[in-house]
Amino acid sequence: MKGIILAGGLGTRLSPLTKITNKHLLPIYDKPMIYYPLQTLINAGIDDILIVTGGNHAGDFLRLLGNGKEFGLKHLNYTYQEGEGGIAQALALAEHFSDYEKIVVILGDNIIEGSVICAVKDFKKQKEGAKVILKEVPDPQRFGVAEIVDGRVMGIEEKPEAPKSKYAVIGIYMYDSRVFDIIRTLKPSGRGELEITDVSNAYIREGTMTHHFLEGWWSDAGTFESLHRVSNLVAQGGANKKDL
Ligand code: DAU
Repeated sequence: MKGIILAGGLGTRLSPLTKITNKHLLPIYDKPMIYYPLQTLINAGIDDILIVTGGNHAGDFLRLLGNGKEFGLKHLNYTYQEGEGGIAQALALAEHFSDYEKIVVILGDNIIEGSVICAVKDFKKQKEGAKVILKEVPDPQRFGVAEIVDGRVMGIEEKPEAPKSKYAVIGIYMYDSRVFDIIRTLKPSGRGELEITDVSNAYIREGTMTHHFLEGWWSDAGTFESLHRVSNLVAQGGANKKDL
């Protein structure tokens, strides 16, 4: 399976930090943010990876990561998203790279304590469809939230005012090769973006969505509060542990 890291967008919620650099190059404790999702994919056994970046500082990713030698990779692929038309728009840029294999997508600001190798192995065996990863959180209204009925995900709502559960859909998604056809059918949401939640809901309607509950902590790093909190979590115990 191939891996895709989405590190586009302008990171305006973190301005002025993001005025002179890309959000995913900001430090999380002792490393640039992008190191964490990259290590998450590698720990899940994925070594053919595309980074989708954007904004005015895209060249800095190449300077920082090169061909991924520091991570034991032979090669890294890069592409560029113009503007910030949404997570699904950024993912659409990976169609050519995917070569119609199944893919694992990770948002460039998502950091986990443990590993998703079990979920990835299960998805390799899944005939078709998609898989999302869920984590119980105290503030679900900040995220995509799963409605679960009889052990199945029946729908995902993006940042609902009245969440139907406490389970956030974290920014690690697995899709089969039809994902790019689904993205072509999407319309921009109220916030003017092509939403990844709409992609996942298409698989839910089809009945081919599975899910996995994440062990260990998870955090995004897209706001000052979450950036600060996740830096502390990493300082206290580290991230991307293989044996959690
Ligand atoms: O962190 C998990 C959450 O991420 C999910 O629960 C939500 O369902 C999902 O929509 C997303 O929510 P956010 O509103 O927090 O996403 P944000 O706009 O902060 O984008 C997250 C990452 O996605 C960002 O670090 C880079 C990438 N991205 C985002 C946009 C809007 C792109 O590559 N291009 C984009 O245009």
